[in-house]
Amino acid sequence: MTVDTLAIIGAGAMGRGIIEVAAVNGLNVDVFEINNDQATAAAERIERSIAKGIQRGKIDLNEPADASSRVNWHSELKSAVAAAQFVIEAVPEQEELKIGIFQQLDNLCADGVILASNTSSVSITRLAAATTRPQQVVGMHFFNPVPVMSPVEIVKGLQTSQETLDATTELAERIGKQAFTVDDAPGFAVNRILMPLINEAVFALHEGVADAKTIDSLMKLGCNHPMGPLELADFVGLDVCLSILRLLHRELGDPKFRPCPLLVRTVNAGRLGRKTGAGFYDY
Ligand code: CAA
Repeated sequence: MTVDTLAIIGAGAMGRGIIEVAAVNGLNVDVFEINNDQATAAAERIERSIAKGIQRGKIDLNEPADASSRVNWHSELKSAVAAAQFVIEAVPEQEELKIGIFQQLDNLCADGVILASNTSSVSITRLAAATTRPQQVVGMHFFNPVPVMSPVEIVKGLQTSQETLDATTELAERIGKQAFTVDDAPGFAVNRILMPLINEAVFALHEGVADAKTIDSLMKLGCNHPMGPLELADFVGLDVCLSILRLLHRELGDPKFRPCPLLVRTVNAGRLGRKTGAGFYDY
């Protein structure tokens, strides 16, 4: 199945990135964003990001409108998915919200349309079970910032069909990404490994091993990571890190995933990282 028309649900940081890479790679994109201000801001940021990409020679187009004119914005879910051959959901990480959207998508979309979620933590098998098409529900987990990071975890739920995995892989490659299929286990592959690393850095800070800057500098220079773990946690969002760690702890039952009390306190203080202007660092 070659996908020409893609619907994207939600234009937050991840949705925005997915819209950009899809439009730049020639797909027609219908976006549903419930918040009009967020939709306007996202459209402007996508335009600026494409302009920057063209200027730096990273995007092979003459002007941003060559891509952005393929994006149509909708304030109703029904019109956004009317022509869709494939849907990617990228709303906030709340299981009830995602389940509700998957039920609506299942009702609105034609038979055969694949429903993908960009979730980093919700079980694909559970999302699929809320629909009448579990074979056509799949995870498509992108990384932030989407235009820069090449991999996508293609997450296979218990009932996801091979046809769905093949079509999802084809779509990921078409929009310039490298697809890696993983099982629907808590945290999939990347967050299962990344979140304990971040958590251990927070424990090191909590226990006074070193200050935040020193921990990050050592990890950047000593392990050749582009960002230190605390800086990366602020970038991802401390609330997101905490909720993934809680999920790993709950679902896998292993104490090694216990969130550091300092992470919990920092989130309770409303310091969620870059998006709130403060986390382990001030911005
Ligand atoms: N959109 C498009 N391009 C961007 C960008 C964005 N939002 N942010 C940075 N770039 C581009 C820059 O234009 C620049 O391009 P050139 O090489 O052509 O100059 C390049 O990326 C490097 O950017 P900068 O020089 O501005 O800054 P940097 O060298 O510090 O890199 C970074 C920034 C790419 C974000 C880098 O620090 C990095 O790779 N950090 C780690 C990010 C990471 O680990 N992400 C995964 C998080 S986990 C996740 O997302 C999953 C989850 O479920 C939680």
